[in-house]
Amino acid sequence: MKPLLRKTAIVTGASSGIGRATALALAREGANLVATARRFERVEKLARQIEEEGGSALALRCDVREPSEVENVVDAARKRFGGVDILVANAGIMPLSLLRKRHVAEWMATVDINIKGVLNSIAAVLPLFLEQKSGHFVTLSSVAGRKVFPGSAVYCATKYAVRALSEGLRMELSPSENIRVTIIEPGAVLTELLETITDPEALHGIQPYFQEGRALRPEDIASAIVYAVSQPPHVNVNEILIRPTFQEL
Ligand SMILES: NC(=O)c1ccc[n+]([C@@H]2O[C@H](COP(=O)([O-])OP(=O)(O)OC[C@H]3O[C@@H](n4cnc5c(N)ncnc54)[C@H](OP(=O)(O)O)[C@@H]3O)[C@@H](O)[C@H]2O)c1
Repeated sequence: MKPLLRKTAIVTGASSGIGRATALALAREGANLVATARRFERVEKLARQIEEEGGSALALRCDVREPSEVENVVDAARKRFGGVDILVANAGIMPLSLLRKRHVAEWMATVDINIKGVLNSIAAVLPLFLEQKSGHFVTLSSVAGRKVFPGSAVYCATKYAVRALSEGLRMELSPSENIRVTIIEPGAVLTELLETITDPEALHGIQPYFQEGRALRPEDIASAIVYAVSQPPHVNVNEILIRPTFQEL
């Protein structure tokens, strides 16, 4: 039997990269999938693909910066599938640049999406998890949530924050409420994330890490997420750090 049969998963940022691969992988393991992102046509196409493969999926437009939009996603998931078992808080951006360049609007956008977006997602699903006395938060931190790199200070700050929030969630909710928490910490994964970098110098500096055949593929991270959420109820996989073999830092 597929391990995630009758489970329901919400994935934010499912329109590309890690989110899209994770949505597909979870659906292939039997989960009902709620795929969300701002680019609705992409998540709609993904949901169609899941249904064509014999799975169940719902596509919803959702900007994680808007609390009401994430709440609507949880309501819709509950109505369609009867509950929510897994939230993959994956949506994120990475507009790297040196602090001295003062790309302040990008700093604020990174905080809004990578931290506040995760908080909005947690806040939206938490009442349901508490009511169910079960649920699994999967958050996307990064190697950048463990190390600071020049040109990545704001992005690193957001990924450190995701790790801190997730550890707090675990401590407060795992032992007493049966709510599990997994922090995923990838190294370089070849996705559209680099397209969020507007600073040519930062893009040039990071490109060598993101080469086909060297960088991780989104499916590599999706497999780790499937592993974490497929464990028996007494197993809480707290952190998974995955680097490409070639990546030193
Ligand atoms: N790629 C890497 O090397 C790497 C390494 C470590 C951690 N991560 C983390 O993994 C996560 C996924 O990134 P990725 O590499 O898969 O990049 P990606 O391909 O660019 O995907 C990012 C996703 O986030 C969504 N998103 C961005 N802003 C959003 C918003 N305001 N509301 C809702 N969704 C939003 C995008 O969808 P829309 O634009 O359609 O909304 C997209 O689906 C991010 O949190 C990233 O920080 C990535």
